[in-house]
Amino acid sequence: MKHLLSTDGLDAASATAVLDTADELKRTLLGREVRKLPTLRGRTVVTLFYENSTRTRVSFEIAGKWMSADVVNVSASSSSVGKGESLRDTALTLAAAGADCVVVRHPASGAAHRLAGWLADVGTSVVNAGDGTHEHPTQALLDAATLRERLGDLDGRRVTIVGDVLHSRVARSNVHLLSTLGADVTLVAPPTLLPVGVESWPVTVSHDLDSVLPASDAVMMLRVQAERMHGGFFPSAREYSVAYGLNETRSRLLPEHAVVLHPGPMLRGMEIASVVADAPNAAITEQVRNGVHVRMAVLYHLLAGDGGDRG
Ligand code: CP
Repeated sequence: MKHLLSTDGLDAASATAVLDTADELKRTLLGREVRKLPTLRGRTVVTLFYENSTRTRVSFEIAGKWMSADVVNVSASSSSVGKGESLRDTALTLAAAGADCVVVRHPASGAAHRLAGWLADVGTSVVNAGDGTHEHPTQALLDAATLRERLGDLDGRRVTIVGDVLHSRVARSNVHLLSTLGADVTLVAPPTLLPVGVESWPVTVSHDLDSVLPASDAVMMLRVQAERMHGGFFPSAREYSVAYGLNETRSRLLPEHAVVLHPGPMLRGMEIASVVADAPNAAITEQVRNGVHVRMAVLYHLLAGDGGDRG
């Protein structure tokens, strides 16, 4: 693997290799007082974030540090981006300064692909940490890692993704990855929050959450992305919550074994009730924990090579 830009086109063998490496790393580090492997000593990872992030940025930093890479964090607000420097010039500057890998989050769909093109000649790897409404591949990988832990093999498992699919890069990456891994995906959303062309996606679409939950092995609640809704929010927050929020009563429609996921940050009370988010069948904290191991695995496959020593 040279870059990780999307899960669209990521084949099952490559995805499974990353997930298996993440499992192995998690087992290796479990219970260790010093969580440090020498695998990426001498390699430099730069995180370049043009949008806010807690989980993704921090877990990439921890992942790099646990593998002994040097990690440098660049945020658009405190860099020369604020003086008008272009994404291309910023990327070439980071590569010239010694970045072996740039982890980029950007509001424009396609930004990570452009970056990979500009860096093709210098050998720097690019990881897409979320580009506009397009993709967030490491989120989908950590979601799959969490589902595999709770449910085992995902082949034939029924995963329901609920909410603002229109603006969700998490939904797009999950639809690609989960279907590649053999899961059956159902999208539940108001018609106003579904993208044009969704009928060509490998999914079933419903607007009735209560009818879908009893047959779901997992339900993934999405964040409502108000910052991308320049024309306002329809339905209203209250209508959305009534029809699409996972409240306590509705959560009882799920089978006992079903897993509840949310990529975060959560809007508690609107997308998901606190009591549901904090219940034992919710794996939201585990998603964050697995995010570190999955991002370690991604950095390993990009920078150490598939035949390398994991330490
Ligand atoms: N899930 C996710 O991408 O969270 P952050 O925006 O906090 O990175």
